[in-house]
Amino acid sequence: VFSSNLETAKAATDQSGAEPFFGRHQSGITTPAQDALCFAALDLATQNLQGHRDLFRIWSKAASKMMAGLPAVSARAEESVPVDTGDAVGLAPARLTITFGLGPSIFEHQGADRFGLGHLMPAALRPLPAFSRDRLDPAHSDGDVCIQACSDDPQVAFHAVHTLMHMAETSAAPRWIQLGFGRTSSTTAGQSTPRNLMGFKDGTKNLRAEDAASMASYVWAGTESPAWMRTGTYMVCRRIQMLLTTWDGSELREQEHTFGRRKAGGAPLTGTSEYDPVDLNAKGPDGKPVIPLDAHIRVAGPVNNDDTRLLRRGYSYATGMDPQTGLIDAGLFFVCFQRDPRSQFVRIQRQLDAHDHLNRYIVHTASALFAVPPGAKPGSYVGAGLFGL
Ligand code: HEM
Repeated sequence: VFSSNLETAKAATDQSGAEPFFGRHQSGITTPAQDALCFAALDLATQNLQGHRDLFRIWSKAASKMMAGLPAVSARAEESVPVDTGDAVGLAPARLTITFGLGPSIFEHQGADRFGLGHLMPAALRPLPAFSRDRLDPAHSDGDVCIQACSDDPQVAFHAVHTLMHMAETSAAPRWIQLGFGRTSSTTAGQSTPRNLMGFKDGTKNLRAEDAASMASYVWAGTESPAWMRTGTYMVCRRIQMLLTTWDGSELREQEHTFGRRKAGGAPLTGTSEYDPVDLNAKGPDGKPVIPLDAHIRVAGPVNNDDTRLLRRGYSYATGMDPQTGLIDAGLFFVCFQRDPRSQFVRIQRQLDAHDHLNRYIVHTASALFAVPPGAKPGSYVGAGLFGL
């Protein structure tokens, strides 16, 4: 009796934490942010549309299986190479989500239209402009396609990318990989606000997935996007290195003025608890604004940016020592989703690039932009609207 109870309990755990793959939108956008990220950008080796379509077909099928806690493809005969790499056998999906994206280079690459899809390129997917402070590593930027795997179990997230890369071996080569630990944003009302590696609560004023009106206005692509992208979204990734030694040596007051919030509880400098109103007009006894003119929340906030907003969904990262600087290479793998990066990420980043006090402590070292197509209907696959059935 005892062992059968145990088995029932185990089966219940194995079923738990499975997110749906099929739906109106892809998973991993409004899904409450999980604890770990494995992100890969790949370049396509295949030069024809059929190969590209086949890849998205088999990837979608495999993703739906893995998100349900099953092997990507069932094991075959002993003499065949296993398709599923096997490193998640026995692990629950732990809310695994797999999100696929397409980079601008799918539509236009060195002046060529490789797949004959150029006329379907969304205007919102125009490559991001350069920002004056960028120090981008091209080897860690861009890519034809991306896979974002998020899970509460880092091994499950890695396995998903590992297996999908293995399945794509002849048609796509990995370009860069980014692991992330520790979500740096809350994306739903029920989640507590996590801290970033600078020790500040991050995500307080983020959009919330439950706020359907804001999702429709700021996240999901509408009729301004080509038909194949409607109800999809656009994803911007920025690897932002934090100069932690300099930051760690700065005074608490300087740190709090950098963001415009208190370090301990996340309250704005014009309040006492995290969700108190941000009063950008408040002046201190010295006549100066309480929230400095160059504070991150003032410069990034909607008042300063035509009322635009983003769904932030980034992760902390630490990769070891940076051989160029001798400092730890750690920071924020910033990920955001939006309806049109030109009036959202780019609008805000232009302001940050020019005015953010935080610039003393950070460097943007990599960048990528992807169109994230709508979710797949059961029996179909992600990207079907673009590639045709
Ligand atoms: C390492 C780089 C960054 C760090 C450490 C950081 C950290 C923070 C923190 C602590 C807050 C306040 C809490 C909150 O509302 O979430 C915040 C707010 C915000 N950040 Fe960042 N951030 C970084 C980069 C960026 C970038 C690149 C963007 C977009 C281009 C951005 C956009 C925003 C926005 C829109 C807000 C909310 C402002 C408001 O409405 O009050 N951040 N960030």
